[in-house]
Formats: sequence, C-alpha cells, structure tokens
Amino acid sequence: MSTDALEGLLVALQAEGVQLQMDGDRVRLVDARGAWGPHTLAWRTARPVHHHQSCPSTNRIARELARVTPHGAPLPVVVADHQSAGRGRRGRVWSASPGQNLLFSVVLRPALTPADMPRAILAWAAAMADVLDVSLKWPNDLVVSRGDGYRKLGGILAELETASSDEVPAIPTSVVLGVGINVSQTAFEDLPLATSLALLGRTVIDRAELLGALVQAIDAVDVQADDLLDLWRRRACMLGRTVRVGDLVGVAEGIRDDGALMVSGRPVLAGDVELISR
Ligand code: BTN
Repeated sequence: MSTDALEGLLVALQAEGVQLQMDGDRVRLVDARGAWGPHTLAWRTARPVHHHQSCPSTNRIARELARVTPHGAPLPVVVADHQSAGRGRRGRVWSASPGQNLLFSVVLRPALTPADMPRAILAWAAAMADVLDVSLKWPNDLVVSRGDGYRKLGGILAELETASSDEVPAIPTSVVLGVGINVSQTAFEDLPLATSLALLGRTVIDRAELLGALVQAIDAVDVQADDLLDLWRRRACMLGRTVRVGDLVGVAEGIRDDGALMVSGRPVLAGDVELISR
C-alpha cells in the first residue's frame, strides 16, 4: 500500500470513529469501540466490505456480487444498517430496526459439491453460535433455550449462486450466507419468540467487533474436516426431545452427515422444527 493510500485509510478510519495516535511513522490504536463504517468493517472482517445505510436485502446484493467476482478474487461481505425487503427462510420477511442489529451476507466458495453444501452451512452456523455462546435449532436458527422452549436471537438464509454457463471465465458456485442477529433492539412487534443480546443482558458496545468475530469464525471453518458437524451437535438445543416438523412428530435423534435431521428414524431435509415436549 502506498503512503498516500495508507494515509487516506487512516483518515477514513478516524472519520468512522476509530481513535488512532500518530507517533512519527508509527500508528497506535487507542480505541475503536463504537466505530462503524466500510473501512472499519473491512478491517474487522479482513474482507472487502460493501456497506449500505439502507438496501432492499444484503443477500440480493451479495448474490449479484457472487455472480461477477472472478475466481481467486477476495470474496465480499455485504453489510446494511437497514433493509427494506429483508428476507427470511421459507419465503418469510426479516425485519429489524435500523442501526441496532447485525444484517450481513457473506459470499463463500467452499471446494465442495452442491450436495455437500448443507453440511458446510450447518458448520458455519455452529461457528457463529460458538462466538455468540448460544444454541442452534435445526437447521441454523441461533437461539437461547428457555424451560418452555426457546427464543430466537438470529437467523441464517443460505442461498446458492451459480453463474450462468456462458460466463467467461467460468465463475464457481458460491454460497451466500445471509445473517440477521438482534443486537440492541428490545421490542419485537408480533414476534413473541424473538430476543436480542440486549434483552439477554449482554450489552454490545461494538457491533463492528462482533461482526468481525462472526465473519472470521466462518472463515476459520475447515469444511473438509471429518468432525465438521461435531460443534453443531454440541450446540443443538432439541436433540433427544419430541418435536414436530410438518406432519411428522417424533424424537429429534441427531443429524446425519448430509445435514438431515433424524426424527424417530426418518430424515428431514427441510422445514421448521417445533418443540412438543421437554
Ligand atoms: C431466518 O428466516 O431465520 C433467516 C433470516 C435471515 C435474515 C438475514 S438479514 C441479512 C440477510 N439479508 C436478507 O435479506 N436476509 C438475511
């Protein structure tokens, strides 16, 4: 990086709230708590960041970027303070108060076949659950257990993006991992099962630092590891309990290596799991 570019970066970081002390040609980080903006987020995540104050959906933008990012180029993260058309799993809407939560989409290109992607998505969810120290509800809801069930802290919408075959040079298949985590929001209209870090008494002063920890945990997952799903199994909150998925009621016994939830011996590949009894 040229001296001019470095100076420009330091000025931009300071404008976003990063306090630096210049001492000759040395730079000392004084305090970055509360800093927020594209440069801070790129520093925290160690990735190129596209930051939007408002956009329809970070997943939509990340999918467009995945279609045009060449093989071998750094893969971006899209972050928004507000989404006007945030999307959840199974066609649902994801709404979040502006500027209080984490709304981001990470582009990933694991060296896996599409059939192996569900395992990787579970492992990335588990890596984030570990950072947040929360549980997982199959397939990848970030939840905290309560005696009578659970409260949802965050959700993940994973989408595959394959460039059209006439793209030259060919662009590999990507996974866009869209993540919404409730951080400081304390009121959730019509969502009695929602919670946030604030409601759990866990004040987050630095959303950028938390985002960085989450993205770096995703990037640290070795998707080829034999024990890839072990962390998911340790973080799961409903195993051994009676659940309902669609019309099927039975005991959630575990997950198969392809990511299917086993309910009383039957594999479930998609759906919402509801707890029936403790
Ligand atoms: C779920 O239904 O639990 C998944 C919710 C995923 C929401 C996130 S917010 C950032 C990203 N952009 C979207 O439109 N959705 C995901």
